[in-house]
Amino acid sequence: MKINIRNITETAFACDALILPLHEGEGLKPYDGIDKSLNGLIGDVISSEEFTGKHNEVCLLHTGGAIKPDRILLIGLGKRKDLSHEKLRRAGGKAVSYLGNLKIKNIALSTGVNSPIGLSPLDFIEGGLLADYSFTGYKKEQNLRGVQRLTILSGEDLQQQVRWIETTASAAHFARDLVNTPSNDMTPSALVKAARSLKNVSVRVIERKEAERLGMGAYLSVAKGSNEPPKFIVITYKGRNVRPVALIGKSITFDSGGISIKPGEGMEKMKYDMAGGAAVLGTIKAASELKMPVHIIGILPAAENLPGGSASKPGDVVRTISGKSIEIISTDAEGRLALADAIEYAKRFKPSAIIDIATLTGACSITFGNEAIAMMGNDEALLEKMKNASEETCERVWQMPLFEEYKDYIKSDIADLKNSGGRSGSLISSAYFLSEFANDAPWLHLDIAGTAWTDKDRPYIPKGATGIGVRLLLGFLKQHVA
Ligand code: BES
Ligand code: MN
Ligand code: ZN
Repeated sequence: MKINIRNITETAFACDALILPLHEGEGLKPYDGIDKSLNGLIGDVISSEEFTGKHNEVCLLHTGGAIKPDRILLIGLGKRKDLSHEKLRRAGGKAVSYLGNLKIKNIALSTGVNSPIGLSPLDFIEGGLLADYSFTGYKKEQNLRGVQRLTILSGEDLQQQVRWIETTASAAHFARDLVNTPSNDMTPSALVKAARSLKNVSVRVIERKEAERLGMGAYLSVAKGSNEPPKFIVITYKGRNVRPVALIGKSITFDSGGISIKPGEGMEKMKYDMAGGAAVLGTIKAASELKMPVHIIGILPAAENLPGGSASKPGDVVRTISGKSIEIISTDAEGRLALADAIEYAKRFKPSAIIDIATLTGACSITFGNEAIAMMGNDEALLEKMKNASEETCERVWQMPLFEEYKDYIKSDIADLKNSGGRSGSLISSAYFLSEFANDAPWLHLDIAGTAWTDKDRPYIPKGATGIGVRLLLGFLKQHVA
């Protein structure tokens, strides 16, 4: 969907549909003029209460040629006092997906001073852009749904801001594509290709041999059961000469559980176990396209977790770069093994922050459902910045505690640590495990197991991969440079 900005009155702009946002309980006041040209068409559906302005309520009217737009779409914003950035985003998502599903192609948004959307239609447009997504690459019949052009009818100079939301939304779509792609195509090598497709970055791939030399025994143990070669991907974007931020994304391209194999039901969804890596790639893509003045080292320790004759087994002991030994209690707690080496590797760059983003635990999704990312960390300033970014983007984070007592959960009888403390408290003990590798480095962990995938359509997120993390991390980076 392309965005245009035109300074022209609503009734004079030829398009398939003109979107008129309305608040609940305020009648049609802002659109009195348009309604006159339509012989009271809008007033009628409001007085008959066919349209009341409740949040995300829609009503589509044909104008019959009385004005240039062929149709009017009324979209409810709810009560004025309840309006928020997120409500606008959701309304935009609803309006665009509603019209897109009807194969309506060329739409416009009214933003006149009298319009309830005022002079800031950006959240509404952002929701529209995020909603305008479908993953159809594997179907023979291509569906023709989706809006092609949205024109903002406004006299304001919105170019700069529109460019930001266009770039970030398409980076989120890029991440969704990577995650929706089935694991037979989205292998560690395919992630390398995706990384190499980014512009103005350098990509280094540490192959198995070199990873062995570096001592990445924990990470490498995850890949042992698979024929897909592991790829430890390091991406550098240097938009400014400062200490880097390390962004580490869990990149298990398929998580069968390994020898500690998962139940068959729902296993197909474990292609989304690389959603952290996809979020990091999407973030770097947008940062480089927007020429953000930041220095990012993206790290994707990519591997496939399968059982097999050479797979690692419960009871095995492996070592990370620093020599710390880990007893593998469950081969299904593979993410933290890969992340342990990635975090230790990241420290070489003396980063000002290490952020890992991972579909780490089933417990995260049991706790929060689809509604929040679990956040833990050892640095107040980083936690604070991430909370601000969460408020701005509504990619919600919720902080959990890292009480010292969790250390006991991951004590091993024979190694320095074990990779699973059992089910009780596992959302936190898994993060505590990671903190043992971050040590004193400023570090923050985001568990996106609940939010990276949705089984039902949401106002601006169609079902499937959500692209979570891209907008959040960009919001974080914006503050981290400031
Ligand atoms: N990738 C899974 C976590 C996951 C589960 C993500 C469901 C998304 C949806 C992770 O590797 C895993 O298997 N975690 C186990 C760890 C346990 C064996 C200690 C879990 O949380 O059940
Ligand atoms: Mn697992
Ligand atoms: Zn996993």
